[in-house]
Amino acid sequence: MPLDAQRVAQEFTRRFDGPPRWIVRAPGRVNLIGEHTDYNDGFVLPLAIDRAVWIALRPRDDRQVVVHSIDFDDHAFFDLDTLTKGQVQWLEYVKGTAWSLREAGFRLDGWEGVLLGDVPAAAGLSSSAALEMATARAFAAVGSMDWDPIAMARLAQRAENGWVGMQCGIMDQLASAAGQAGHAVLIDCRSLAVTPVPLPPGTAVAVLDTGTRRGLVDSAYNERRAQCEAAAAFFKVPSLRDVELDHFHRLASGLDETTRRRATHVITENDRVLRTVEALGRGDLDTVGPLLGASHVSLRDDFEVSSDALDAIVTSAQAHPACHGARMTGAGFGGCAVALIDAARADHFARDVTAQYAAQTPHEATIYVCQATDGTDVVVA
Ligand code: GLA
Repeated sequence: MPLDAQRVAQEFTRRFDGPPRWIVRAPGRVNLIGEHTDYNDGFVLPLAIDRAVWIALRPRDDRQVVVHSIDFDDHAFFDLDTLTKGQVQWLEYVKGTAWSLREAGFRLDGWEGVLLGDVPAAAGLSSSAALEMATARAFAAVGSMDWDPIAMARLAQRAENGWVGMQCGIMDQLASAAGQAGHAVLIDCRSLAVTPVPLPPGTAVAVLDTGTRRGLVDSAYNERRAQCEAAAAFFKVPSLRDVELDHFHRLASGLDETTRRRATHVITENDRVLRTVEALGRGDLDTVGPLLGASHVSLRDDFEVSSDALDAIVTSAQAHPACHGARMTGAGFGGCAVALIDAARADHFARDVTAQYAAQTPHEATIYVCQATDGTDVVVA
């Protein structure tokens, strides 16, 4: 049994006086390319990673959900029949998921559980989506629901939109739900088709944590989303996915400058995702690298969601001989970057980039190679 599974199981047995019935796992994700495209019905290329949320749980006879969080050293409960919003941040994701499943018509049953996660929070690695998906998996186990990863990802997204108030797209929840070991997944965020994309042999995906955390990202994020919707309305299409680049260039002068730059990012980023997938298929890393670099520039200059720390770590990474390409990842404003590197030189890469970043910024980086893992599942039943 994986170490984290053992830990939640042991803590469960200690707190609840008996073994758990199930252990569920839902991974975080890192996005290789396709940023701020998901809520524009576009394309993304994330991978589920070996950082996850684990819940050990057992059904209850009543309508309560009782959860202990090891990370927050906090114990909380709520009643499934009287769901109300509260102040305990981590619990709102659990409650919001219950609300969303209930709204979708599922009959929910009570459970008690112990929760543990090693996805860093607010780092752009989808700790909230992992918590939502783990919670959904827990309810599905207790209520013997069919597990449809795509449907469940949509309900977890709804929890985030409708309960937490973050107008996120589908990428994080779907990557956590439908990740595949050893692969990135190309997601068409309109059809929700998920296509596994193997990573070229000899390469590794490194997560570069800047040690900075984004603040007040929800309002900036929701604002970006509204700007994209305004641009789509200008072109009289459902979303920016439907705007071809040359058509955009012909008419873009009718948009105000900010909206034009936001739309430029989304439209060019969708194209970069598809070109990255093609290039990965050919093992053509010389093409992938510049595409990742162009994504970063576009997010920095046109979408304006990067930060000094992200720019510094991406520049250091890109200059390293072991690096094929690097860019910020996730919503932005802080958190992590991602790099595609030579697996054999990962240690050198991590050492050199960490040192250079420390010399250039007041922050300390944490760099690790991540493994692409399978999506949300019951690991012990
Ligand atoms: C956050 C959101 C996602 C996606 C990314 C940006 O992670 O939750 O839906 O929009 O930002 O690509």
